[in-house]
Amino acid sequence: MTESDIRLAGPTDGDAPEAGDHGWGMLQPRTRTEAHWAEEQEVIGPGLQAVMLLSRLCVVAADGAELVDVDGNRIIDFQGAGGVNSIGHAEPRFVATLAEELTRATAGAFATPARLDMVRVLRDFLPDELDTIQLYSGGTEAVEAALRLAKSVTGKHEFLSFWGGFHGKTMGSLALTAGARSGLGPLPPGYFSAPYANCYHCPFKLTAPDCGFTCVEHARDVIKENSTGALAAIVVEPVQGRSGNVVPPPGYLTALGEVAREFDALLISDEMMTGFGRTGAAFAHQHEDVRPDVLTVGKGMGGGYPVTGVIAAGETMAAAPFSDPSASSSSFGAFPMACRAVATTTGIIGDDKLVENAAERGREMLDQLSDLVELAPLVGDVRGSGLALGIELVADKKSRRPAPKSVVQRVYLELMEAGVLVMLGGNALRLYPPLTIGREQADTAVGIIRETLIRTRGEG
Ligand SMILES: Cc1ncc(COP(=O)(O)O)c(C=O)c1O
Repeated sequence: MTESDIRLAGPTDGDAPEAGDHGWGMLQPRTRTEAHWAEEQEVIGPGLQAVMLLSRLCVVAADGAELVDVDGNRIIDFQGAGGVNSIGHAEPRFVATLAEELTRATAGAFATPARLDMVRVLRDFLPDELDTIQLYSGGTEAVEAALRLAKSVTGKHEFLSFWGGFHGKTMGSLALTAGARSGLGPLPPGYFSAPYANCYHCPFKLTAPDCGFTCVEHARDVIKENSTGALAAIVVEPVQGRSGNVVPPPGYLTALGEVAREFDALLISDEMMTGFGRTGAAFAHQHEDVRPDVLTVGKGMGGGYPVTGVIAAGETMAAAPFSDPSASSSSFGAFPMACRAVATTTGIIGDDKLVENAAERGREMLDQLSDLVELAPLVGDVRGSGLALGIELVADKKSRRPAPKSVVQRVYLELMEAGVLVMLGGNALRLYPPLTIGREQADTAVGIIRETLIRTRGEG
């Protein structure tokens, strides 16, 4: 089979695989995959994403939520590049506008029709009070810029972040990030962390809402104990992605916002994964009555094009030195292709009512998956906000001890074999369908996930 022979057939169409009753999954032997992977690995360095190393997927075609590998296997993509795949793979309007943009100036942060189009679309999409954006090309770069902005606004330099959080891998964002630091030497001073409102693993052994947000009280104490009076910002994910899409109870962000005010610090909502509709609101903090000072965004905003941003009110963004000429720019920030990607993606999210679709499909999927806690031997918790869903695998439901890595990896591979690619985060499966997902395809994927998890047991 050549690449051109591979087409995106429906499960019962033409030369779609016979085996299995839904037609999804690794039904063809992965011989081309082996050769492809081996040749790439001669040059590509180590340290690739763990899920990519596990799956070794060599993708040659894609459409919406569907991937086709080099051997002709068809898989439903709920990995979605950890929330990047917002409008679906190869969305025709995205393909057309980006192809056209490629024929114009491709390099330079000029004012361009693409940038003007982006501004016009964002004017409607951004929260009223957070109306200014500065563009970057990586998530960690945007988080670093937000830290510089917070320092510029407050004249202070300390930051509070949360256990289980992920904000990137450069010095400032790494200092905000839980774990993954050993062997990397000293981090910048003035960064401290407190437990997140992860109710399934509450370190205080309390239950929301009766707990009175003891974790927020504790965060306040952590600041008092550690700060030299120079807290610039509290940095928080409205849903913690890497910990398995942990959704805090309502009111959590609002309570953190109050703590930030108390210490004359900013509240930075890192919406890299949650922004641009993923959780069924344009931005996840909008599920609450809270006004963060700064948002960091990316992933789904560019529909697959590498573009990220910092969003704040104009008067916040005007703080120096952040606002000095060249002080908040970057080589690729606001290049025409990036702006076209944002304009087109955000336009599609609005025109096709994808925020609403994320809310509706997410609710249905959460409903359909919830009883796995009773039915599936390994499932300890099922949670989600819109189309950011998490299924936590445990070795023991009573103690909530995490399932061993070997078991989590086996489940991941069994799901892929069965036809659904998911993301991992520790001992949790993370699901990121495109915001375009239809009911039928969501049902098919949920059916595969349910069937796989109900029959899968842990070690011994
Ligand atoms: C909430 C959050 N912030 C920041 C980042 C860092 O983004 P990048 O990997 O593009 O540097 C990520 C990436 O997953 C993220 O989920």
